[in-house]
Amino acid sequence: GEPIKDTARVISRMCDLIMARVNRHETLEELAKFSHVPVINGLSDKFHPAQLMADLMTAVECGLKIDEIKAAFVGDGNNMAHSWLMLASKLGFELRIATPKGYEPDADVVNLAMKNAQISGAKIYLTQDVKEAVSGANVVTTDTWVSMGQEAEKEKRLRDFAGFCVDENLMKLAAPRAIFLHCLPAYRGYEVSEGVFEAHADEIFAEAENRLHAQKGVMVWLDRQRNG
Ligand code: NVA
Repeated sequence: GEPIKDTARVISRMCDLIMARVNRHETLEELAKFSHVPVINGLSDKFHPAQLMADLMTAVECGLKIDEIKAAFVGDGNNMAHSWLMLASKLGFELRIATPKGYEPDADVVNLAMKNAQISGAKIYLTQDVKEAVSGANVVTTDTWVSMGQEAEKEKRLRDFAGFCVDENLMKLAAPRAIFLHCLPAYRGYEVSEGVFEAHADEIFAEAENRLHAQKGVMVWLDRQRNG
């Protein structure tokens, strides 16, 4: 019959919420449509909001105020780039995204972010120049060049992303005491150098831990929505 519809109906009889990690974002939307309980995006090919809550929490724990954040996202205009666009444009901070040509974030997400930014005052820039993106940033972040489902494109991607590694020289252009975040798993020597990863390992593992705390926060919020 209709597998996702049936799955959503059956699973939501057995639990208070569903957190789903899916390949296609549409799967999640379908789950949410037919589920009787809240559905949380635990990662889709389009967005990764749970990670961004943890990233924001980590930036704040590192002493940054939200409206002082100047974030640079370097690499693939993927689900993480999309969620950074949503976060920055809703909360009103500065975000610069540097991607190789052909790997820009999706136009529908960029358009939505630009609309949000008109209300929030966020400054959003897209560039192909990594130095321009990172200069003066106090949060620098990247993600794997080969996301789930893209394994067959690996060789081509490694070629296309040459020059987009966040290394020590690039980090020198960032603000003093800039933090570096990575949603993991990280591929050292590709999107991030060994040295940058090790120098910022405390931030990266706090970020990983904060997934737990941020997601507990979402559960509490959902519970209050239901129970007042
Ligand atoms: N962009 C990566 C994020 C992994 C947490 C992926 O979708 O595989």
